[in-house]
Amino acid sequence: MRRQVLLFIFSLGSVLGQVSYSIPEEMPKGSVVGNLARDLGLDVKRLKSGKARIFTGDSAEYIELSRERGVLLVKERIDRESLCRQMTPCALHLQIILENPMELFRITVEITDINDNIPSFKNNEKRFEISESAITGSKFVLERAVDSDIGVNGLKNYSLKPTDNFLLKIQSQADGNKKVEMVLHKPLDREKEEQISLLLTAVDGGEPQMSGTVKIFVTVLDVNDNAPVFMQSVYKAAIAENSEKGTTLTRVSASDADKGSNGEVSYSVSTAMDSLSDIFTINENGDVILVGAIDYEKAKNYQIDIEATDSGGLSDSSKILIDVTDVNDNSPQIKALSKSDTILEDSPENTVIAMLSINDPDSDRNGEVKCNINDDIPFKIQNTMNGFYSLVTEVALDREVASQYNITVTCSDEGVPSLSSSVTLTLQISDVNDNAPVFERSSYEAYIVENNTPGLSIFTVKAKDDDWNQNARVSYILEDFSINGVPVSSYVSVSADSGVIHAVRSFDYEQIKDFHFRVKAQDGGSPPLSSNVTVKIVIQDQNDNPPQVLYPVQTGGSVVAEMVPRAADVGYLVTKVVAVDVDSGQNAWLSYKLQKATDRALFEVGLQNGEIRTIRQVNDKDAVKQRLTVIVEDNGQPSRSAAVIVNVAVADSFPEVLSEFTDFTHDKEYNDNLTFYLVLALAVVSFLFITCVVVIISVKIYRWRQSRTLFHSNLPVIPYYPPRYSDTLGTGTLQHVYNYEVCRTTDSRKSDCKFGRAGSQNVLIMDPSSTGTMQRIQSEKSILDEPDSPLEVRKLLKFKYFIVCNSKL
Ligand SMILES: *[C@@H]1O[C@H](CO)[C@@H](O)[C@H](O)[C@H]1NC(C)=O
Ligand SMILES: *[C@@H]1O[C@H](CO)[C@@H](O)[C@H](O)[C@H]1NC(C)=O
Ligand SMILES: *[C@@H]1O[C@H](CO)[C@@H](O)[C@H](O)[C@H]1NC(C)=O
Repeated sequence: MRRQVLLFIFSLGSVLGQVSYSIPEEMPKGSVVGNLARDLGLDVKRLKSGKARIFTGDSAEYIELSRERGVLLVKERIDRESLCRQMTPCALHLQIILENPMELFRITVEITDINDNIPSFKNNEKRFEISESAITGSKFVLERAVDSDIGVNGLKNYSLKPTDNFLLKIQSQADGNKKVEMVLHKPLDREKEEQISLLLTAVDGGEPQMSGTVKIFVTVLDVNDNAPVFMQSVYKAAIAENSEKGTTLTRVSASDADKGSNGEVSYSVSTAMDSLSDIFTINENGDVILVGAIDYEKAKNYQIDIEATDSGGLSDSSKILIDVTDVNDNSPQIKALSKSDTILEDSPENTVIAMLSINDPDSDRNGEVKCNINDDIPFKIQNTMNGFYSLVTEVALDREVASQYNITVTCSDEGVPSLSSSVTLTLQISDVNDNAPVFERSSYEAYIVENNTPGLSIFTVKAKDDDWNQNARVSYILEDFSINGVPVSSYVSVSADSGVIHAVRSFDYEQIKDFHFRVKAQDGGSPPLSSNVTVKIVIQDQNDNPPQVLYPVQTGGSVVAEMVPRAADVGYLVTKVVAVDVDSGQNAWLSYKLQKATDRALFEVGLQNGEIRTIRQVNDKDAVKQRLTVIVEDNGQPSRSAAVIVNVAVADSFPEVLSEFTDFTHDKEYNDNLTFYLVLALAVVSFLFITCVVVIISVKIYRWRQSRTLFHSNLPVIPYYPPRYSDTLGTGTLQHVYNYEVCRTTDSRKSDCKFGRAGSQNVLIMDPSSTGTMQRIQSEKSILDEPDSPLEVRKLLKFKYFIVCNSKL
């Protein structure tokens, strides 16, 4: 600098006195610019005297002159940049004016640059939005920096950091300015770095170097360059069958690295089968929701393909495996494979009556089934095979106990709660002929009054059979049996259907008092079963026989007379009328009455015993020949009677009797006229017979009309016997075999006219204690049958008949 100053002094001294100085800018106030006095070669006094002053024109006064010291001083801070901008060199031109003499000196002060300005940017930050899809090589213009300094102190270079994605490119332009650009050399990825900060630095070349910076913010814009991605490649879920619609099974989720709408994921079921999307759906949140019905029995699992799609159409897929869990929602199904509606009651134990198939579609315990039947019946159920049951009889059956069973089979599974179902089978037990008919009573006894109408129903036997229908149809059969050598069928018959026992013939008590036989009841089964019962028929007596006088014997030819001595006392037993009645009981209870007598005052007849006794002393006036008519009457209802004539001779000697009786014995005459009398008798008998028949028929018809119901009653007639006359049955004391009814009507009790066999030469045994009824008489039959009997007697008995006509007729 000093050399410069010297150089200027030389030039001034020679020409105009011109001095140049060079000072850096920004010197402090008062700094010395140069020794003007010395350089101009002027004395300081001259400066004073010359009133030296500086003239600057209109420019600011940066420099002042110190007259005392003769130097130039910095008056104001000098900034080269504001003074000269980019002009160079930059100088201040001053004039020093002196008076006395007037002198003018030119002074040039050059201002040199110092590095006092930093490179600067207009904005201290810059923002860019760049798509991540921007291709490499894309250029982005940056702001230039400005440095007011010049020369080396001016702007020198730029730098950009970091350089990961962008590089700086500086291009010199024609005007000398530089174009600053940043170039993408590595693609951007929003998903990695969404915001990038860079720093652009501009440096100058000064010493020390100065720099300015600008911040660059790059926002990477999203591009749909990422597909959604499912979190799991397979999702698993389980759901109970029969779950409610709307149940959420699981949630799937897919992520998309993109932003905004590019990152919005929607889910869908992509399975080809439409049916699946009717069952499951997936909502925007990825919730898998049940919308249809699922049934474990139809499908145990599902596989659903799902898809996640973003709005740009990029997608990912995954699958969901859904296991359906079983719920006990099926009750067992019972099916009868085969069954019998009817079985025989004699079917043996363990007869199979039905085969059942049981099916429960549920699984595990929900499908395990147990079956049983109602326990009040004789059947059991057996598990034959898995799922197959057989219903068998447990014991032998009896239709007579129960003819029908309702078998309820109940099957329940093991689920919780258990489900069950049941079916009722109706089984009919068909009949087997295993019951024999049983009579209502162990034996029967019935009564019938003798002289019944043949065909009269006596009573009814009845047997019951517990079986059914044909097996219970009982028919009654009379068992072959003979009574006194006569087959029972000629006595009675049995109606096969009704069991009514009919009399085949009219019974005669005097011939047979009772008999018994067996009736068999047989059912209609095959083979038939039967049982039998004893029936006893008791024949009841009817007063159908008049008393028969045994003594005195009534003969046509001879006269028998009882002798009464004239000296006989009162009560003398003249004779005894002996009569029998073949009936029994009351019907055979005889009483004796004196009907007619020659002298009523002389004799009486014992009412009970038939003894004829005198009731007063016999005197001489009494006729020798006495004739008494004694009526023997039984006690039947109506009673029957017989008359007997007793001749009594009141005499002391037999010749007396003879003389008296010859006049009324007409033996010879009787014999002569026998034929005549017989013819007459026959005529009378015929007449009487016809009369009897006519009358009886009339009466019968009348009575029958009146009391039809009574006589048709089957009730046995129980006769009444007075105590004393009990038991004439079965003693056999009076057997009278040959009685022939002349008049036979529907009710033989009313039959009054009979031919009877004459009681004759019988042996009379008088029992002293007898009351007149206990008479033991050897029957005439026994006489007849007796081979030793005299022929005459037998002839007599065989051919003698007497006619008794009841007076009540
Ligand atoms: C600018 O600086 C870079 C490095 O920062 C360098 O490579 C380059 O050569 C410099 N340019 C000049 C003209 O100095
Ligand atoms: C069986 O069921 C039928 C019809 O329900 C009924 O009429 C009958 O009485 C029942 N039989 C038995 C033995 O319970
Ligand atoms: C009658 O029944 C009895 C058993 O009550 C039996 O012993 C007898 O043999 C049967 N008689 C006939 C002829 O069937």
